[in-house]
Amino acid sequence: MTVPRLIAKKAKGEQIAALTAYDTLMAEILDESGIDVILVGDSAAMVMAGHSTTLPITMEEMLFYTRNVRRGVKKALLVADMPFLSYQCSLEEGIRNAGRFLKEAGAEAVKIEGGEPVVELIARLVDFGIPVMGHLGLTPQSIHKFGSYKLQGKESAVAKKLKKEAKMLEEAGIFSLVLEKIPAGLAREITETIKVPTIGIGAGVHCDGQILVAHDMLGIYDKMKPRFVRRYAEIAQTMRQAFDQYIDDVRNRRFPSDEESFL
Ligand code: KIV
Repeated sequence: MTVPRLIAKKAKGEQIAALTAYDTLMAEILDESGIDVILVGDSAAMVMAGHSTTLPITMEEMLFYTRNVRRGVKKALLVADMPFLSYQCSLEEGIRNAGRFLKEAGAEAVKIEGGEPVVELIARLVDFGIPVMGHLGLTPQSIHKFGSYKLQGKESAVAKKLKKEAKMLEEAGIFSLVLEKIPAGLAREITETIKVPTIGIGAGVHCDGQILVAHDMLGIYDKMKPRFVRRYAEIAQTMRQAFDQYIDDVRNRRFPSDEESFL
């Protein structure tokens, strides 16, 4: 997958399937399954590192996760999430950090949360050959501004702002736009207004594609289940059963058997 091919999918009416990954093995399995986009999300802060928000994850940690994933991906487009405070302080820092994902970790694009405040940075990055995926709606790096992970864009003023910012991001040169936890009707309007693909998460069926955190849809991260997550497996439960069985087998000398030993 390449950026131009991904954009072309919208014109062809082909839905984009995207998921997150943070390690090589998951990336390999995902890539082999034919996924279009693999995002190394800053959700790694919560899913991999046990933080309660995405804010604490650092550039170095995101580079580490992105390198892991790079080693497992042959076909999908690899997008790295720019972590909190890696692009807000200055244009120079934002450009350097975005470039590091391509130069040092093998990402093919970066994702940046936000609207008007990041438009100038995005235009500069695109000029320098760094493709950018935008992210509007419930942007988790702004959790303390929002106060909770609630639906965004229900009030008409917020909806109007989101529509305006989607257009601004498109003009700045984004190649796709993640729309997180906004009403399906609003996502549809934005999808019909901009030429680049929208990728929804909790934004209804009218987007040009969908993304989920792989650990959520696999039921590995089962501490909470947002309404927009469909569980395609219950891996955490399977793991708990396997661990219980193993502990029981060890304690009762049922493991290892003769076949599993060197006699
Ligand atoms: O960090 C992340 O995983 C994301 C996706 C859920 C869009 O931003």
